[in-house]
Amino acid sequence: MKLKEQLEKIKALAISELDSCDDTDMIESLRVRYLGKKGELTSILKQMGRLSPEERPVIGQLANQVREIIENRISEKALFLKSELSERKIKSEAIDVTLPGKAPKIGRAHPLNTVLAEIEDVFIGMGFDIVEGPEVETDYYCFEALNMPPHHPARDTQDTFYINENVILRTQTSSVQIRVMEKTQPPIRIISPGRVYRSDSVDATHSPLFHQIEGLVVDKGITMGDLKGTLEMLMQRLYGGDCKIRLRPHHFPYTEPSAEIDIMCFNCHGKGCSMCKQEGYVELLGAGMVHPNVLKGCGINTDVYSGFAFGMGLERITMRRYGINDMRLLYENDMRFLEQF
Ligand code: DAH
Repeated sequence: MKLKEQLEKIKALAISELDSCDDTDMIESLRVRYLGKKGELTSILKQMGRLSPEERPVIGQLANQVREIIENRISEKALFLKSELSERKIKSEAIDVTLPGKAPKIGRAHPLNTVLAEIEDVFIGMGFDIVEGPEVETDYYCFEALNMPPHHPARDTQDTFYINENVILRTQTSSVQIRVMEKTQPPIRIISPGRVYRSDSVDATHSPLFHQIEGLVVDKGITMGDLKGTLEMLMQRLYGGDCKIRLRPHHFPYTEPSAEIDIMCFNCHGKGCSMCKQEGYVELLGAGMVHPNVLKGCGINTDVYSGFAFGMGLERITMRRYGINDMRLLYENDMRFLEQF
């Protein structure tokens, strides 16, 4: 084949290959193949020596034209592929800013914590301190110092979990009364919230783990009137200004006199209905004047000081507050339930 024809063939082939090429690496290999030192065009130029002096400039010129054409095509194609590539990249990385966002899930306070915080607020407002005591407790603090020696029948209602004969999971926050009075001389004004444990099976109103809030006030001239006023204030803050409470005589070994405290039924306002078992009132907590034996045992002079104490179940107060009828709902961590508060 004549060189001229060969050059035309190279040109046509290079153009068609460049046209169908669609990535930048391939362009580079085409450039090497046609224009490189060992490329096809170079090999033709090497044969120029064989040509006659007349032919040489003609073929030389043609070769240069072909080179120029291929070079131009290569740079055009490279430019085109580069812009197409970045366009494709932009498209694939595009963010649709009109799509709705993903809202982060925000938690909320558990109803027990909400009510506890409200109760704490009321007492802080009345000048009380909040103290905590250990959940793993000795028999002494949980029972004996509270005027319940071994074999006292009142222990029967508070069976618990034993670490050993002397160390137990506390059944009541009343143990904290002793811990506070041992360390502090009056005036004392504290509440102590926390977990307590009893060997009870789970049902709608029982759980082996629940929460109590203990209260203790010891000072000069404290009377049952102070107890009633304090608790009335709490209940009115929790349940509304028209909430009435009622004290019923009761017995606790660590208070004398002792009382159970009821609040007026919301449902019937004292008239009697199925919710309050026709009583008009529902039982809410235990309380009384701190027994002199308990005060004396902690080194407090009963000729000078007297005090009142109370203990209430946080679950019961929370359930009354929100109209929850099954205690288990408070522990199951079911968001469908918890999200309602
Ligand atoms: N500790 C009692 C209970 O668990 C509640 C209680 C009653 C606490 C009378 C008191 C009190 O401080 O004075 O049932």
